[in-house]
Amino acid sequence: MNVPADALAPLPPRPEGRALRAEISLSRITRNFARLQKAVGQRGIWAVVKANAYGHGAIPVGKALEATGIPGLAVSNLEEALELRDAGIACPILVLGGLRAEALPLASQHHLTVALVGPESLEAYAQLLPDHPVRLHLKLDTGMGRFGFLPSELGGCQDAIKALSPWLDGLMGHFATSDDPDRGFADRQRRIFQTCHQQLGDAGLSFKEIHHANSDGVLRHYLDGDTQARPGLALYGLTSIPEGHALGLEPAMQLVAEVARVKTVPAGTAVGYGRTFVAPHPLQIATLGCGYADGYRRDLGNRAVVGFKGATYPVVGRVSMDYLTVALPIGVPVEPGDPMTLFSSNPAAPHSIERLAQLLGTIPYELTCALHRRLGRVYPEAPFHSRNI
Ligand SMILES: Cc1ncc(COP(=O)(O)O)c(C=O)c1O
Repeated sequence: MNVPADALAPLPPRPEGRALRAEISLSRITRNFARLQKAVGQRGIWAVVKANAYGHGAIPVGKALEATGIPGLAVSNLEEALELRDAGIACPILVLGGLRAEALPLASQHHLTVALVGPESLEAYAQLLPDHPVRLHLKLDTGMGRFGFLPSELGGCQDAIKALSPWLDGLMGHFATSDDPDRGFADRQRRIFQTCHQQLGDAGLSFKEIHHANSDGVLRHYLDGDTQARPGLALYGLTSIPEGHALGLEPAMQLVAEVARVKTVPAGTAVGYGRTFVAPHPLQIATLGCGYADGYRRDLGNRAVVGFKGATYPVVGRVSMDYLTVALPIGVPVEPGDPMTLFSSNPAAPHSIERLAQLLGTIPYELTCALHRRLGRVYPEAPFHSRNI
């Protein structure tokens, strides 16, 4: 089947019709960046903006970070890199997930930096790079077990890697357990990395950039011997380790939906698919235009709360594709158009992204990355208002 290209394009934004929005503070992101920069000292930062900047909007976030003079941005794949280039972002962009050799001409044309994630494409790279040069960062698998050259593979590939030395700028690893208070495995990964680095050095290879640390690696200062760091989550003010809170990271997103309908229901009224909530006494039910298609998880129904005028109220019944329902006591003034906060930017609130992630047994990344592109993102200049919690 031939799908016309415009069928794949995102819907055009129509903010006037929108009652649901992720409000994103770019100044919080740049302040978080400054905190992380302080934490890494003289090292450079590749700011990770993959997955639409963890749901915060890759283009506005990328532009705001570029304006701070950041050394570079990191993404997962070619499309994400080209989205930033098409938007006029000119700073170095590192493609963390590597690229197939066929993509090198495009990557070269757009001055991308590419992680070299395994031995498979070494030969094809050697053939293409003279005509289609890109900067390369060689990735080692020191214990993460997904991308990267295994230490046992290095010996056999050494000559093929050496053939790429005119383009090799960086050597990188990735910690598997930097969120674990026990740093034993991270130290082991570091030692394996150092041995490989030495082996490559003995073979005549040298690297300008060395990097391992994601956010937790930065927050725990697992930076020995590194010239760069690659934080993602912490830029957005989210963290699940105490060191993140100690650094004063500020969550940069709140998810706000305006009430679409309010109705007063008698005791015994069931709400939503499956009738999983039945009003125990008369209540007001506010319907909001936000559902699992927007990225608000279905399993938050009958579990989460939303913020409204300084208090919180329960999400009742099942979350459906486009709607969710909130119960408020009779007498609480609420009307269509009133904003409610679904994700709070206050880390201590019961509906902060971190607390909701804990409730669901997942990590904050999953909640923000899941926010669909159909959902409007707005970037208010003013600090987050205090009308909600
Ligand atoms: C290779 C690589 N580096 C850095 C990061 C950033 O990690 P974090 O968001 O935990 O800081 C990621 C994220 O998944 C990654 O895959």
